[in-house]
Parts: sequence; C-alpha cells; structure tokens
Amino acid sequence: MKWDSSFAIGIEAIDNQHEKIFEHLLAIENSVTKRDPWHILRFFLTQMSDYMKFHLAVEEALLEIIRYPDYAEHCVEHARLMEQIAELQDQLEKAGSGRAPVGQPLPAENLVDFFEDWFVRHVLSSDREYAAYVKEEFPALFGKRPA
Ligand SMILES: [Fe+2]
Ligand SMILES: [Fe+2]
Repeated sequence: MKWDSSFAIGIEAIDNQHEKIFEHLLAIENSVTKRDPWHILRFFLTQMSDYMKFHLAVEEALLEIIRYPDYAEHCVEHARLMEQIAELQDQLEKAGSGRAPVGQPLPAENLVDFFEDWFVRHVLSSDREYAAYVKEEFPALFGKRPA
C-alpha cells in the first residue's frame, strides 16, 4: 500500500505527519515480512511510537487552541492508539526475552489491526471530522501554505 493524496485531510502540516507515520508503519510491515529479528522490529516500532506521540500532541494542541467541540472524544481515541502501541511493544519485549511462543515476534495480523484502527477508523474518519470543522471555522489553516 502506498500513500495517496486522496488520504489527505487538507491541513498541510498534518497531512505531512500522517504520511510520515504511514511510512513508519510500512517499515515495520516490511521488517515483519523479512522476518527480521525482534530487536530490529523494536527499533522500527520505537521510531513509529515516538513519532506518533509527537503527532498526537500536535493535533491535541491544535484542537485545544481552536476549541474543537469534540476535543475530549478525540483525545480518548488518541490515548487508545497509544495503548495499542504499548501492547505491540509489550509483545515484542516478551518475544525478545523468550517469554512468548516461538514464531513471529510481532504477528502480521496485529499490525494490520493497528493500521486499520489508526488509519481507517481514525485518520479517515475522526481526523477528517475535525478537518471539516477547521475548514468551516478557520479556512486560513486549510489547503497549501502560500509560497
Ligand atoms: Fe492524526
Ligand atoms: Fe487524531
């Protein structure tokens, strides 16, 4: 799967961040497919997790500043995403310490589930909802930055 401009929500800085997370997830998927050892996977997962944390903080700051009416609900979804990442990290730690059954240190289906939750249910739905609000209330934040 490749990033496509149709995935954009219309706020340039946020779209750039979404694309970057997308790339981080592809790197993890690639690493799983190549059957990399768990510590390599852990490296990619940590990179994705750190960047996701940064992105969610940026979004939350934006939504707070513009007084987005569904701010609290949006933050709950973000917290849930970080919990899921923590679960993935936990799985990897178990595999690394030999406390998990032998096999894939990070089952591909868990990764696919996370991708769907983050991308399909969150970015293409909840993030689009706040983008519609921004477009209505703060049109200057929308679209390309003037050159
Ligand atoms: Fe987002
Ligand atoms: Fe979000």
